[in-house]
Amino acid sequence: MIDRKLLKLPKMKQVLAVLAGLFVLQAFFIIGQAVSLSQAITHLWSGQSLVNQYYWMIFFLVTYTLRHGVKWLQDMLLDRYATEQASALRQQLLVKVFRGGPAIIQKHGTGNMTTLALDGIDNVKNYLKLITEKMMSMSIVPWFVLVTIFWLDWQSGVVLLLVFPLIILFMIILGYAAKNKADKQFASYQKLANHFMDAIRGIDTLKRFGISQDYGNSIFKTSERFRVATMSTLRVAILSTFALDFFTTLSIAIVAVLLGLRLINGEVFLFEALTVLILSPEYFLPVRDFSGDYHATLDGKNAFQAVTSVLDEPSQVAKTTAISEWHDTSSLELSGITFSYDTSHNTSSNGSSKMALKQIDLAVSGYQKVGIIGMSGSGKSTLINLLSGFLSPKAGEVRLEGQEISSLKEKQWQQQLAYIPQNPYIFSGTLAANMAFYHPAATREQLIEAAQVVGLNDLIAELPDGIDTKIGEGERALSGGQAQRIALARAFLDASRKIWLFDEPTAHLDIETEVELKERMVPLMTNHLVFFATHRLHWMKQMDYIIVMDQGKVVEQGSLEKLLAKNGAFCQLSTTLRGNQNV
Ligand SMILES: Nc1ncnc2c1ncn2[C@@H]1O[C@H](COP(=O)(O)OP(=O)(O)OP(=O)(O)O)[C@@H](O)[C@H]1O
Ligand SMILES: [Mg+2]
Repeated sequence: MIDRKLLKLPKMKQVLAVLAGLFVLQAFFIIGQAVSLSQAITHLWSGQSLVNQYYWMIFFLVTYTLRHGVKWLQDMLLDRYATEQASALRQQLLVKVFRGGPAIIQKHGTGNMTTLALDGIDNVKNYLKLITEKMMSMSIVPWFVLVTIFWLDWQSGVVLLLVFPLIILFMIILGYAAKNKADKQFASYQKLANHFMDAIRGIDTLKRFGISQDYGNSIFKTSERFRVATMSTLRVAILSTFALDFFTTLSIAIVAVLLGLRLINGEVFLFEALTVLILSPEYFLPVRDFSGDYHATLDGKNAFQAVTSVLDEPSQVAKTTAISEWHDTSSLELSGITFSYDTSHNTSSNGSSKMALKQIDLAVSGYQKVGIIGMSGSGKSTLINLLSGFLSPKAGEVRLEGQEISSLKEKQWQQQLAYIPQNPYIFSGTLAANMAFYHPAATREQLIEAAQVVGLNDLIAELPDGIDTKIGEGERALSGGQAQRIALARAFLDASRKIWLFDEPTAHLDIETEVELKERMVPLMTNHLVFFATHRLHWMKQMDYIIVMDQGKVVEQGSLEKLLAKNGAFCQLSTTLRGNQNV
C-alpha cells in the first residue's frame, strides 16, 4: 500500500521516527483520557461527591489537550515536510524536462507533463502527508490500546483482536478494486490532458477545416469518460468506507453487549467495562481513518509513480568530457550513427520501430558550410536534432577532436550552437528581446543592423513601437517568414556561437526574397561551422560540402563539383527537385 520509493525520499526515515514517537505519546494520552474519564464516572456512580473528582477531571482535560496538541504537532511537521518534498520534486521534474529537451515531452505528452507538474505534484503532496500519517497511526495506536484492553478485560480484547484481520482482509480486497478504478481514472485523466492541449495547439487547423465542433465533441467524450471513471472510483470508495464503518460499529456493539451481560452477572467491574468501551472506538479509529483517506490518496499515488517514472528515466547527459570551443581546426566525426523514434504507436508489428537515420558516417572540420539536402522525410531535421543533442543516437560513435563522447547533449556543446528550426518559436516579449535571445547584451545598433541583414526593416517600420513592439503569444502575431527572420537574427547577433544549425530557415520565404536574403547571409557564415538543411537546390552553390540524404541514409557526400562530376544521387535529386521547383 505504501510506495517503497516514498521511503527513499530524503529525510523520510527521520520524519517517520519522530512521527512514531509522537504516535506513541498520542496512544498514552488516549489511554489516559479513557482511564480518567471512567475513573470519574465510576467514582460518581459509587456515590462519591463531584468535588472529589476534580483530580480526575483535570487529568482528563490535560490528556485530552495533550492528545490534540500532539496531533497538531504531527500535522504541522508532516505538512512542512510534504510541502518541502513536493516543491523539491517539482523542481527535479522541471530540471529533468529541461535537460531531456523535446524528446521527453514528446514521449509523455505536453498536456500530461503540464498537469503532472501542477496538479500532479499537489496530489503527491497530499498523498505523502496522508499516507505517512495514517500508516504510522494505524501501526502504532491500535496496539497500545489493545494491550490496555487485554490488561483490563481479556475477553473483550479477544473479540477486538479477532475482528482486526477480517477488517484488514476486507480493506485489501476493496483497496485492490479501488486501485484498479483509480488507475483507469488516472489514465483517462492523462488522455484528457493531452487531448485538450492538442486541440488548443491545433485550433487554427481545426477551425480552418471547420471541424472544431467535432473535435470539441471528442474532447467532451473524453471528459465524460473521465467523469465516469471518477464516479466509479468514488462509488468504490464510499462503499468501502460504509462497509468498514458498519463492521467496526458492529464489533463495538458486540463488545458492549458482552460487557453489559457480564456486568449484570457481576463478572466484570464497572471501571474496566467502561474503559474498554471508551477505548474500543479508539482501537478502530486509525484503520477507519486510513481507509477513508486511502481512496483520496490513490490519485496522489498514481501521480507519484508518474513523477518518479519520469525522474527515473535514464538521463542521457553524457559523462563530462571536456568539450573545447569549436575553432578552425576542430573536427567532428559521426560513424555508424543510427536513430529511431521509439514512440509506442509507431512501432511496427515485429517490435522494431522504423529507422529515421541509418548508419550515418560523416566528418566535418573547421569552419565550413555543410548543406544537407534531401526529399521531405529523408531525415534532415532528425540529423540536425541529433547534432544539436536534442536526440541521442541509438548506435554509433560521435568523436569530437578525435575523442569519443557519448552524446552531444553536453552543455558545453549546446552553448556553442545557434539553432534555427523549421518553425521557430517566438516568445511573448518585445521584438528586440526576441532577437537578442542568444545574446541579451546586444546593443540597439547591433539589433538594428541584424534586423537589416535578415530583412526585418519593413516590419519594424510598420510596428507601432518599432523594435520595442510586443510580439508573440497574445500580442502582435507574425507571419512564418517573419518568425524565421527573427530566428536568423538571433544567430547572427551572437558572434560567440560558432556552430549554426539551420533547418530550412527560409522555407517560409518566396524565392526572390530568399535569394536576396542569401546574399546578405552567406558572408556572415564565414568563420562558422554551418549545417544547412534544405530542399532548395540553389543553396548548394554556396555550400563547401554537401550531404545528400535519402530515406534516412547519407547516399552521397562531397563538394558540389565532386557530386556533379559523379552524376549520381545528387544529380538525380537535382532533376527531381528541379522538376518540382523550377529552379
Ligand atoms: N517526432 C517523431 N516521431 C516519430 N517519427 C518521426 C518524428 N519526427 C520525424 N519522424 C520520422 O522520421 C523520418 C525523418 O523525418 P525528418 O523530419 O528528419 O525529415 P526531413 O528530411 O526533415 O523532412 P522535411 O523536409 O519534410 O522537413 C520521417 O520518416 C518522419 O516520419
Ligand atoms: Mg525537416
